[in-house]
Amino acid sequence: MEKGWEKTDRRKTDEKKRNGKKLIHGADYYPEQWLDRPEILEEDIRMMKLAHINTVTLGVFAWAALEPREGNWSFGWLDEVMDRLYANGISVILATPSGARPAWLAKAYPEVLRVAEDRQKNLYGMRMNHCYTSPRYRELTRRIDEKLAGRYGRHPALKAWHISNEYHGECHCDLCQETFREFLKRKYGSLENLNQAWWTGFWSKTFMEWEQVESPSSRGERAIQGLALDWKRFVTAQTKEFMDMEIRAVRSYAPDIPVTTNMIGSFIEVDYPRLAPSLDIASIDLYPEWGKESPWKVAMKAGFEYDVIRSLKKKPFLLMETTPSMTNWTEVGKPKSPGLHRAGCLQAVAHGADSVQYFQWRKSRGAFEKFHGAVVGHSGHEHTRVFRETAQLGDILERLGEVAGTEHQSGTAILYDWSNRWALNGSVGPRQNKYYEETVREHYTALRSLGMNVDVIEEGENLEGYRLIAAPMLYLIKEGVPGKLEAFVEKGGILVLTCLSGIVDENDLCFQGGFPGPLRELAGIWVEELDTLYPEEQGRIVSMPENSLGLQGIWGSRDYGEVIHLETARAEAVHGTSWYQGMPVLTSHQSGAGCVWYLGTRASEDFLDCFYEKLFSSMEMMSERHRRLPKEVELSVRRDESFSYYFYINWGEENCRLEIPEQAELLGAETPEEAFMKGNSDVELFDAEILYCQGEGKRLLLGPFGTAVIRVARF
Ligand code: GLA
Ligand code: ZN
Repeated sequence: MEKGWEKTDRRKTDEKKRNGKKLIHGADYYPEQWLDRPEILEEDIRMMKLAHINTVTLGVFAWAALEPREGNWSFGWLDEVMDRLYANGISVILATPSGARPAWLAKAYPEVLRVAEDRQKNLYGMRMNHCYTSPRYRELTRRIDEKLAGRYGRHPALKAWHISNEYHGECHCDLCQETFREFLKRKYGSLENLNQAWWTGFWSKTFMEWEQVESPSSRGERAIQGLALDWKRFVTAQTKEFMDMEIRAVRSYAPDIPVTTNMIGSFIEVDYPRLAPSLDIASIDLYPEWGKESPWKVAMKAGFEYDVIRSLKKKPFLLMETTPSMTNWTEVGKPKSPGLHRAGCLQAVAHGADSVQYFQWRKSRGAFEKFHGAVVGHSGHEHTRVFRETAQLGDILERLGEVAGTEHQSGTAILYDWSNRWALNGSVGPRQNKYYEETVREHYTALRSLGMNVDVIEEGENLEGYRLIAAPMLYLIKEGVPGKLEAFVEKGGILVLTCLSGIVDENDLCFQGGFPGPLRELAGIWVEELDTLYPEEQGRIVSMPENSLGLQGIWGSRDYGEVIHLETARAEAVHGTSWYQGMPVLTSHQSGAGCVWYLGTRASEDFLDCFYEKLFSSMEMMSERHRRLPKEVELSVRRDESFSYYFYINWGEENCRLEIPEQAELLGAETPEEAFMKGNSDVELFDAEILYCQGEGKRLLLGPFGTAVIRVARF
């Protein structure tokens, strides 16, 4: 269904490329795999132009090609690639190569190899397998980074530094153990404080000497959950120190070139909000598992990941790596069905990405990722569906250039904190699977289904500017957070809390005096007991006859049932099952100009949809645009001071109609349809048509995976 696509006018679009802004369409390019085939570079450049590729990332794992022997440099090939790309109008994001080290390095300096948690040293093997603490690895990395920065820092093709690759992992070598103890000494000052914070009086765990403290392992010290938490914090700190060293190295030669590193969305190992301040731009690598669940479900999961990364800097981010077709490491390697590539990548742009970049440009012939999708497959030419769809997307991104740099502002946020995740995961009880990640995404999906932009922020974040904050299972509460939440509510904010909140402090020590701990007064309730349910047990949420939202009905709930006593809050719904039937399950507490809602169970998705819709209506945040959003159509809004850009994507299986925002007509001459026919449209349509329904206003028809991007002037 290419109708809308072909009809769209280009003159207007060219004019719209205001200030020459453009979105990046790019790929990881590893020419070092093909150095014995010099004709490949020219062939690649020819095809990059066909695919509207304007940027490539070079050098991600090129250490062995750049320094084949210690101190023996080989930059000629990279000089040529950079120059040829530049001559052909293609920009470069240059990586530091520390993600994988050459064999000579591992042989000469085995101390750089990681030690696993069972204290066994890793072999040379994989990539991302180095001790971030190792002075040797730091030194050798700094040296090659400075060489690269010195040589290419002023190259006209260079647009950004891509620092290393997907930093992650931990090392338990002796040096890391020693450094961990230093970290703890700085944090706690004395062993007494540490013993207190880790509650080591239980099971004879008291430490009498610093040397007795060791990193946790699944065989032993995970018994102390406070230790396990601090270890994770230490691992992030070491990762950041290493990254900062690399950033200093490239900045010393190229101070004005922005730096980024590719993060893996909500990846649990590294506390990304700690890395973010060192970066100019946040980047994400994302490989949504299309086909595993319905497109809508996968899209909601992907949207969440984009929002996590965008929220790190609250600025446009880069989609640094995704696949143009299939992924080789998933359970099932599924190519994207026709149209999905475009919809999926435009979704990233809708959520605030200023780029769509791929892993990788040309498929490897051999080794680990030879089956991973690439723009150019093993056939080696451009006459493939994947290439065509990539090129088509490249063309679309060119037409949407003016969106680059616009903000994706959100009045709604979800609190999602790495320490909270670590603590919940590590805690033995109150049940094995806490369903934390699922619960957060269920709340997120309910908010997004209403067409709300959503930020995903950590506990430390500034809460100014939000009207509603959902904080599902805020189990671990950091110091200062209750006060911030109180101030937020006092000033008119709406806070949604759920079961399993306010249980432990930063060190995993349970709050005394009744849950939800430091949030008890704010929520106006006391949670006396927490019941957890077997999968076959159903909970029920029954609305109170008189409730402040006008909720009416009975909904299902799962996994948790809290026994709640009202203090200053009022009951809005009650439990419909179990021995606590009739006791409050949903409460509200007015505080200052705002209100705190507390939901003492894991509510069904139906309930969340209904609850948030009523809540937003009561806050007058539901416009016609939100109210009429068809099911499984995603709406995201980007904007700058002059325009709003509405991105609609139909993830459903049916064609659907949607209303064009009222103000859109102010831009077009008469109606969007006429404006569109005259080639004067502010609507970019992909698998979509404009319908004009007399008397009913203006409507769009979106097919499955159909996307519309609508520009509306702001006043
Ligand atoms: C990430 C890595 C790439 C590659 C892809 C495969 O993006 O950074 O090097 O391994 O995954 O999906
Ligand atoms: Zn180490």
